Amino acid sequence: MTSSRLGASGRGTRSVMRSKALGRAPARAHSRTFARPRVCALVCALVCALVCALVCTSVLGANADRAASPLAAPTPLALPAPATRGTVSVEQALATRRSTRAYAARALTLAQLSQLLWAAQGITVPAQGLRTAPSAGALYPLEVYVAVHEVSGLPAGVYRYLPHTHALHVVVAHSVRARLAQDALAQAAAARAPATLVLAAVPARTRSKYGERAGRYVALEAGHAAQNVLLQATALGLGAVVIGAFDDARVRRTLALRSDEEPLCLLPVGPVGGG
Ligand SMILES: Cc1cc2nc3c(=O)[nH]c(=O)nc-3n(C[C@H](O)[C@H](O)[C@H](O)COP(=O)(O)O)c2cc1C
Repeated sequence: MTSSRLGASGRGTRSVMRSKALGRAPARAHSRTFARPRVCALVCALVCALVCALVCTSVLGANADRAASPLAAPTPLALPAPATRGTVSVEQALATRRSTRAYAARALTLAQLSQLLWAAQGITVPAQGLRTAPSAGALYPLEVYVAVHEVSGLPAGVYRYLPHTHALHVVVAHSVRARLAQDALAQAAAARAPATLVLAAVPARTRSKYGERAGRYVALEAGHAAQNVLLQATALGLGAVVIGAFDDARVRRTLALRSDEEPLCLLPVGPVGGG
């Protein structure tokens, strides 16, 4: 390094002297003096272009990961406030709950959907973010999605439930009912339900504190939330069933789940009837 630098500078000096002797401007020396900064600028530009390309690719890749056709304006859709009083006791709901796989060909109301989502993961103590279902360490690994086919006042599509604002965020802007039913091994309940809730989880949230026990805790939490939904459906006079038999990878794609989310169960729900 040192010797080559000295060598270059020595050559530059000789060139200047020769230029002076010839009465010319020392053009070559001048160009050598600026050659290194130019190379640096070129390298910097290339590095910047590379970094920009990488950032753009990762952002576009993440978006492509999200959804087949997200709505242009993804403003959260506010849900009607959930009721905290009902006409059916917990005991009655427990006594009459049954897995129901056939539904009348009627839409769910938005109020019914709102109540079911709240039962799954609604916030009950806003100051602390506590929810309707228990969670190990209050870390809340569950994410609730709903595949809407026929809910009054709500366009068909896939939505993510936002517990803190009791709102929905659109993820896919068209019905995925037929596809989801295929993903669930062609089960009729998923093919006929006007809506199917989906419990997914981000296990890393729980793993960060509980390590290996996270798998057990996440599964338990899905069970708590699913039972809440089933009992709430019963109390509303609706039928529902929990589906555990489905193709994980296909469900991920159909619902455009995030890469860190795992689908745990589907909960088709609808008005009782149509058996
Ligand atoms: C983890 C789990 C997975 C289940 N998966 C399915 C399923 O894929 N399809 C289905 O029709 N029912 C499924 N069920 C519902 C059971 O078949 C049902 O709970 C059982 O037959 C008892 O009936 P009951 O729920 O009416 O008491 C599942 C239940 C659980 C707890």
